[in-house]
Amino acid sequence: QKDEKKEMAGIHELLSKLYHHLLTKTAHGKQALEYLVKRGFTEDVITRFQIGYAPPAWDTAVSFLQKREQSLLLAEQAGLLAKRQFDGKHFDRFRDRIMFPIHDRNGTVIAFGGRVLGDDEPKYLNSPETKIFQKGKNLYNLHAARPEIRKTQHAVVFEGYVDTIAAYRAGVLNGVATLGTSLTEEQAAVLKRNAQTVTICYDSDRAGVEAAFRASQILEKADCAVKIAQMPDGMDPDDYIQKYGSDKFVTDIIGASMTVMGFKIRYYRRGKNLRDEGERMLYIEEIIKEISALPKAVERDHYLRQIASEFNLSLDALKQQQGQMQRQFK
Ligand code: CTP
Ligand code: MN
Ligand code: MN
Ligand code: MN
Ligand code: MN
Repeated sequence: QKDEKKEMAGIHELLSKLYHHLLTKTAHGKQALEYLVKRGFTEDVITRFQIGYAPPAWDTAVSFLQKREQSLLLAEQAGLLAKRQFDGKHFDRFRDRIMFPIHDRNGTVIAFGGRVLGDDEPKYLNSPETKIFQKGKNLYNLHAARPEIRKTQHAVVFEGYVDTIAAYRAGVLNGVATLGTSLTEEQAAVLKRNAQTVTICYDSDRAGVEAAFRASQILEKADCAVKIAQMPDGMDPDDYIQKYGSDKFVTDIIGASMTVMGFKIRYYRRGKNLRDEGERMLYIEEIIKEISALPKAVERDHYLRQIASEFNLSLDALKQQQGQMQRQFK
C-alpha cells in the first residue's frame, strides 16, 4: 500500500522530467514553448515550476514507462493512462497539452494539470482523484511557497496555475492555488497552520467573485484574517500583470486588498444608483444585514458609523435597526 503510493509518485516524477525535457530540449515542444514565451513565461519560470509538454501521440508515456519497466496498471490508477475498452490496451491520458506538475507539500509530484495550447475544450485537464492526489487537500505551489508564507505569515490564494506563476514572476512568492475547485475547509486549515493572513485573489468575473465570497467565509471560520484583492472587471491576475505590469499588481492589487466587509460594500454598490432613494435604502439594508453577521461589536460599531456619516443618518436609528436584525440572526 505504502510502496504503491511511492511508486505512483515515482511515475509522476519520471514523467514530469520527460515532459519538461520534451518541452525545453526537443522539436516536439517547439510550438508549446513558443506559446508559453508569448504568454510571458521565462526560462527561469519554466524550470522552477517544472513545466512540460505532452505531445499529441497516444503512447508517449506508455512507451516511456514500459522501457523503464514501470507498472502501467499503477500509472492508470495514478490517473496518467487510460485503457481502451475493446482490447484493454493503455494509452496516454494527457496529449498535446502543456503540463503543470502538482506537488504535495514535500515537493513530490502527485498529479498534473494539462492545458491545451489554443482554445479547445476542456481548457484544463487535471489528474483525477487518486490514492496520492486529493484535490481538496492540496494547494498548488504550497511546497515552494511555504517558506515565504511562514516568514511573512501571509498567503495569497489564486484560482489556478497561470495566475500563481504570473504572480510569482511579479514578485509574489507566497502564492498558491485551489485548482478549479472551491476552497475547502482542509485547505483553509493548511493555510491557517502556515499564515495569519490570507489574501484571496480570484478572477474578477462573476464566478470568481462568488467563489471569493465563499472562500472568505471558509477562511474566517478557520480563524484566518482574510483580505480580498480586486482586479478591474473581467480581469484575472495574469491579465492584469500583462497589461499593467508587476509593480502595479503588487501595490495596487495585492497591497490594496480589502477587508471582507469592504469587498461586500463594493459588491452591493455595484450597479446601484445611490442617489436614488429606493436603491440607497436597499443598499443600506443589505449592508446592515452584513454588519449584523459580524462577530465583533467593535467592528459592527465601526461600519455603522461609516454608513451613518456617509449617508448622513442618525447612528441611533441605524443601531436600532441593526439590533433588530441581530436578533433575527440568532
Ligand atoms: N480549471 C480547471 N479546469 C477547467 C477550468 C479551470 O481545473 N476546466 C482551473 C485551472 O487550475 C485554472 C483555474 O481553474 O488555472 C482558473 O480557470 P480559468 O480562469 O478559466 O483559467 P486561467 O487560469 O485564467 O488560464 P488561462 O489564463 O491559461 O486561460
Ligand atoms: Mn520535484
Ligand atoms: Mn474565470
Ligand atoms: Mn482566469
Ligand atoms: Mn488567465
